[in-house]
Amino acid sequence: PIIVLNFGSQYVQLIARRVREAGIYSEILPYDTSAQEILSRKPYGIILSGGPASVYEPDAPLPDQNIYTLGVPVLGICYGLQVMAHQLGGKVERATKQEYGRAKLTVIKEDPIFYGIPREFDVWMSHADKVISLPEGFEVIASSENSPYAVVRRGNLYGFQFHPEVAHTSYGMEIFRNFLYRVCHAQKNWEVGDLVEEKVSEIKSTVKDGKVICALSGGVDSTVAATLTYKAIGNNLKCIFVDHGLLRKGEVQEVEGYFRSLSLPFKTVDAKELFLSRLRGVEDPEEKRRIVGYTFIEVFEEEAKKVGADFLLQGTLYPDVVESAGLPGAKVIKTHHNVGGLPERLGIKLLEPLRELFKDEVRQIGRSLGLPEEMLKRHPFPGPGLAIRVLGQVNEEDLDILREADYIFIEELKRWGLYDKVWQAFAVLLPVKTVGVMGDVRTYERVVALRAVDSVDGMTADWARLPYEFLDHVMRRIINEVKGVNRVVYDVSSKPPATIEWE
Ligand code: XMP
Repeated sequence: PIIVLNFGSQYVQLIARRVREAGIYSEILPYDTSAQEILSRKPYGIILSGGPASVYEPDAPLPDQNIYTLGVPVLGICYGLQVMAHQLGGKVERATKQEYGRAKLTVIKEDPIFYGIPREFDVWMSHADKVISLPEGFEVIASSENSPYAVVRRGNLYGFQFHPEVAHTSYGMEIFRNFLYRVCHAQKNWEVGDLVEEKVSEIKSTVKDGKVICALSGGVDSTVAATLTYKAIGNNLKCIFVDHGLLRKGEVQEVEGYFRSLSLPFKTVDAKELFLSRLRGVEDPEEKRRIVGYTFIEVFEEEAKKVGADFLLQGTLYPDVVESAGLPGAKVIKTHHNVGGLPERLGIKLLEPLRELFKDEVRQIGRSLGLPEEMLKRHPFPGPGLAIRVLGQVNEEDLDILREADYIFIEELKRWGLYDKVWQAFAVLLPVKTVGVMGDVRTYERVVALRAVDSVDGMTADWARLPYEFLDHVMRRIINEVKGVNRVVYDVSSKPPATIEWE
């Protein structure tokens, strides 16, 4: 594999994905993984990610010094370059001019890393520190106006001040390919298309003739995990779909339709009453999340006991694995809903066939498994469902108002060809009433907020610039068709500082 050492860059997963897109398996490890441990994985090369720290600070994260002498190529990106320069005897300082955004890179010296790429092209910079003197033996391969040491090299150690992994850098993929195939001499070993057979036989040999249970949510991950497992073990798989009464209009039927088309052995458990009765009167968002979380586990556990399974199947993805390994001191912003803790309680093992995959890789597998295209393209939907989109106290009546408004918004997005252009979109019902006038009569009714965001991974997001005419049309339909609503607003907050969901 290619080992990516994580120094806390927001782009670390993007680096790992680019490497895989280029056909080489990649793994993200903590920055302080020992050289010995890295070597034991037989890496083709090591990439040091960027990160928010400064190398001259007392507790700056530094990798094991021995990684430079393993005989394995190392590529340092941004902070990764600074770390390399610092540890090998160069000097790094806070730059007088910080450099963010586009810069023109000029190649000074012929090098395999720039094979087949023009001598001048645009790259993306994002740094406050810079290398001001190079360690012995390093030479400059390329520079930009603000960064004379934009690309440096000694033997098979490379340092980039710019970010080849972001889309704004032209020829980024070519640079990764050059690093992988011309510097590391890697052999292509990763192709998502081949994975279905491999996964199916892996599941077969793990599970043998045991039984597996799975909580289906209607999302891509759990559906792909279940479909692979079904291919492997047939009806020894039992899927449970919990209807918690917090789903969108028509969603139960829609999702059941998908499961049927994939022949998944599933059972829908109607637990609407239980969830709603427990949520009654509760206002606090975290409390609502907790209630939905443990009630879900309770309902699922009861069903699981009936099956008497040996494994719990989960659609855990690589980003979840990396994140839960987590950087120390990370703060809980929202308690995300998942079934953590269940395997211990049931005394069964966890089966996670997707745990080294990224979302786009799972979508590709889904496509080759024949999942319907509409399902693969569905926006993410939170586990606690509409409970966190009816702000404050949740009741059946408000859920219905929200369902109608949300349905109109989504239906129109699809009609206008905008649904696939935004990352996620939904309506929120606010717990306030405002004054309006309809047909000369005063009204005093509720407010619906519309939220649509562009994002790559949900970690950061910006509000989607939907056309005014579109918003106008949706506003008109919601106010005319949804009883109890007389005002529609559009959320123009980015994340951060806001979050995508309102609770
Ligand atoms: P926030 O609101 O934290 O949301 O910016 C980021 C993304 O995560 C989704 N989300 C959840 N997904 N369980 C989930 O599976 C949850 O409890 C949950 N809360 C938020 C949210 O819809 C967005 O896509």
